[in-house]
Amino acid sequence: MIREIVQVGDAVLRKKCEPVARFDGALCALLDDMKATLEKAEGAGLAAPQVGVPVRAVVVNVEEGYFEFINPVFVWQKGEQVGTEGCLSVRGKAGTVRRPSKVKIVFQDRKGDRYALVARDFFARAICHELDHLDGILYTDKAEEVRDAED
Ligand code: CO
Repeated sequence: MIREIVQVGDAVLRKKCEPVARFDGALCALLDDMKATLEKAEGAGLAAPQVGVPVRAVVVNVEEGYFEFINPVFVWQKGEQVGTEGCLSVRGKAGTVRRPSKVKIVFQDRKGDRYALVARDFFARAICHELDHLDGILYTDKAEEVRDAED
C-alpha cells in the first residue's frame, strides 16, 4: 500500500523516534508499504517518520541494492564528501550537504536478526540522511544552501 509522505512542517518529522521492539506483522506491513511508497516516489531512501510512524526503521534503494535497516546505529563514520541531497518530505528543493564518505552501521532486519554493514559514497550519504530522520533532523538543517530543485 502506498502511504502518504509527510511534508516539512509536520511535527512527526521532528520527533526522536522510538526503537522498534516488536518484529511482527505490523512491522512487515510498514516496511512493505515504505518500499512501495519509495518506489513510487523514485527516491533513494525513506524513513518511517516520513509516513507518519515515529519508529527507528528506514529503507534505502541505491545502486548497491534495496535495504531495510531497523534500529540502525553508527559504529563509525570516516572521511568527508560534499554533494547534493533532496528529500521526499521537502518537495522541490535540493541542497549541498557535507557528509562522511564511509560509514559502518549495525542494524536489525525485519525478523530481528542483527547485521553490520559498511557503505561508502552515495550509499553512505543515503544512510546518513535517513538515520538523521530518526532523530528529527532534516538535511535542510545541515545544508550549506537550499535551492529550488531542477526537476
Ligand atoms: Co529525507
